[in-house]
Amino acid sequence: MTTKLLVATRNKGKLAELRELVTDLDVELLSLDDTPNAPADVVEDGATFEANARKKASEYARATGLLTLADDSGLEVDALGGEPGVRSARFAGPHATDGENNRLLLTRLVSFERGERTARFRCVLAVADPLGPLGTDVHLESGACEGRIVSGPRGTGGFGYDPLFVPAAAGERTLAELRGEEKNALSHRAEASLKTVAFLRTYLRNRLTP
Ligand code: IMP
Repeated sequence: MTTKLLVATRNKGKLAELRELVTDLDVELLSLDDTPNAPADVVEDGATFEANARKKASEYARATGLLTLADDSGLEVDALGGEPGVRSARFAGPHATDGENNRLLLTRLVSFERGERTARFRCVLAVADPLGPLGTDVHLESGACEGRIVSGPRGTGGFGYDPLFVPAAAGERTLAELRGEEKNALSHRAEASLKTVAFLRTYLRNRLTP
């Protein structure tokens, strides 16, 4: 029996990425745009990626009754004590553009040498299923991509902080200079997604045969 899986996003790119990873699962992926009874928005006011992903997954699952997957991700810069972290999307202000966030990051790091500019992207994925075997539990998986922040933007691909971030595994190229499939092979989101798909493979079997 095909299980409906709500992916708590309106981002078509994230949905498409996940669709490629779940081809061997018997699930029908739905987005928030396919579920009129989902809350318009869940405020991401947690202090950690885990708290935000957990909150989003459980609130959307409770409102819709569906098995639900939610994510939170961002950039942690060591020289800034882990900032921008959960504030990555709004680092330069509530409606900041990627360009504004990137410029602020470069300004804050201007006095730091190459070796002091270490950073990582982190992604946490949460699965909630209040009407299934998980009950009130939320299952969490995470992924990370280690690297450093360069002194000026390079490349045109990707989004967010990609033009400023060189993954340790990619030589001197920023994420925005990698091809889509190269980024997917080493990204924080891909690592968390693969772990979550592995969890769901077993979970769905148990859910159908309690
Ligand atoms: P969200 O988890 O989609 O809300 O992402 C939060 C913010 O983190 C984004 O707006 C970006 O600024 C940043 N971010 C998360 N993942 C990436 C990535 O893969 N590349 C560049 N920026 C990212």
